[in-house]
Amino acid sequence: MLSAKTLFQEIVDNDDSFALFCSIAASGESQGGWENARIAALVPETQRDLAPKITRHGADEDKHGRIFNALMKKRGLEPVPVPRDTDYTMLLESNGIGLAHDKLKRDEPLTVQDIVTYLAHSRVTEQRASEQMTMLRKHFADHPDLGRAVRMISDDEDNHLAYCHEELLRFAYAGHGRAIQRTLRECALAEIRVYRDVSLAVMAHMGRILGWSGPKAAVLAAGIHAVYAYERAGGWRRMVSLRTPERRDALGGPASPEPEAA
Ligand SMILES: [Fe+2]
Ligand SMILES: [Fe+2]
Repeated sequence: MLSAKTLFQEIVDNDDSFALFCSIAASGESQGGWENARIAALVPETQRDLAPKITRHGADEDKHGRIFNALMKKRGLEPVPVPRDTDYTMLLESNGIGLAHDKLKRDEPLTVQDIVTYLAHSRVTEQRASEQMTMLRKHFADHPDLGRAVRMISDDEDNHLAYCHEELLRFAYAGHGRAIQRTLRECALAEIRVYRDVSLAVMAHMGRILGWSGPKAAVLAAGIHAVYAYERAGGWRRMVSLRTPERRDALGGPASPEPEAA
């Protein structure tokens, strides 16, 4: 039977597919870390209070990148190059979602609108990260090598999502509601396309490594298209709602240290 669990088990069990999976994940996480560190450095004066939380957000993502690298090292594997068509973070950026890297490389302070854009982009992508980690956690929470890493990253992604809800609601009350809704919608509709394309690309690369048959690859591709159809038809709305999170001030305080052996 083809299930998310057997699929991931297969990817985890093979050194080459595991190295590709971890390399793609590590690269996305560290790009996220870099983006957040730059945004924290360029926060406008009026939003100074947000800077430590953005720094913490970036520190968490950098930590996730290191955890995925450590998982490879533990198995004696080297990171492999990330194929362009699997680079989710880069593809979102090149589709104009979130803040352009050119802008982040300049040393000019961001505007409040930029901060709203950053938070809306994060609201959407952290929802994806949180759901993906919840799925991995469901199947691998007790895995001897992956369990601790998966649980820790999953907790962090839930915190990131809570933080985005809380801060966006604060900006909405301050009068940015329309801009937030517009940005969230644009971001979600672009994200579901990029996510579909990246999923298809990742599965194609994995299929080559693992020697999947034509029918198996076709079933997987059909599944990815079905997820997109559901998201396009209305599933995307779950990525743009805002509600007060159960956990407040989720990014107040320093990042928790990574598990040494993760
Ligand atoms: Fe992350
Ligand atoms: Fe995150």
